[in-house]
Amino acid sequence: VIGIIGDPVEHSLSPIMHNALFSRLNLDFIYVAFHVTPDKLEKAVEGVRALNIAGINVTIPHKTEIIPHLDEVSAEAQIIGAVNTVVNRSGRLIGFNTDGYGFEKAVSTYGGLSLKGKKIFLIGAGGAARAVAGRSLLSGANSVIITNRTWEKAEALVEDLKESFRKISSTSNAKDAAGEPRDLKCVSGIKDLNLKVIPWQKESWKQSIAAADVIVNTTSIGMNGKGNLASLIPWESVKDDAVFFDAVYAPVQTDFLIEAGRRGYKTVYGIYMLIYQGAGAFKIWTGRQPDIKVMKQVLESYLAGKGDSDVKRTGE
Ligand code: ATR
Repeated sequence: VIGIIGDPVEHSLSPIMHNALFSRLNLDFIYVAFHVTPDKLEKAVEGVRALNIAGINVTIPHKTEIIPHLDEVSAEAQIIGAVNTVVNRSGRLIGFNTDGYGFEKAVSTYGGLSLKGKKIFLIGAGGAARAVAGRSLLSGANSVIITNRTWEKAEALVEDLKESFRKISSTSNAKDAAGEPRDLKCVSGIKDLNLKVIPWQKESWKQSIAAADVIVNTTSIGMNGKGNLASLIPWESVKDDAVFFDAVYAPVQTDFLIEAGRRGYKTVYGIYMLIYQGAGAFKIWTGRQPDIKVMKQVLESYLAGKGDSDVKRTGE
């Protein structure tokens, strides 16, 4: 049994995605959703041990709170400050974060871009932003410039990331989602971490966006067609070869990405981050590479059948 714990959890797309893979590969696994409220988190983790559940995904609001209940946490998950995948290895619960991996794989596969040496313009400072920023720096991005409606939240994110890089880089090597060692030398000099916050204003976005290689939305603007992020972008300043990524996946093509595409930019859909974070988790649990096409097919047909308005982002 593999599970997902969250509150709420009913809207999670992970059961559909993973069960399709299990049956396609004829694997003796089943994926179920468990609604776990914050006061029951500790008991739920004990339950994973007691019932010998093979692994879990962790979603809002447990991604950070679960950390002290685990036996081991990958350096990457420590840096991001959140765990989205747990594997049960002979009773030891080991936490990983595959969200950042999902972002990196999406951008490299569909945007043709490696994060190494790149300048990232990051809109938002929530959970998804944390994973995107942490992973980008781990992968040797040149800089991450963060802008968020609430300034304090972005500042707190920057401070947290700097602190965790400082701690981790002195102690160990980070592991990526698939468990491969990542060299932390690129970030070992904390003073070299180019991570900063700029105000939530078109005027102040201009300069940073002009240098950006990747422009990333991690806010919920555009979810279910609500809000207009495109109107905040100083389009005239954006480089011709910039790649646009939107973590929102309902609708699959957000207004933000439609506008970027219309202006001739490469765009990467949030659904691919969802798919690749799932792929990273699948590999951790089963040791097998999942079929990305199957994942994409089931998600797209589910989202199309549902109508976008019913789909909520669950942070998985
Ligand atoms: P997730 O885990 O999916 O990243 P989250 O942690 O709830 O979700 O973060 C939501 C992000 O969307 C935050 O950056 C939030 O900005 P605030 O920190 O100011 O709340 C941003 N956000 C949500 N609605 C927004 C809106 N209407 N305008 C601007 N930013 C918005």
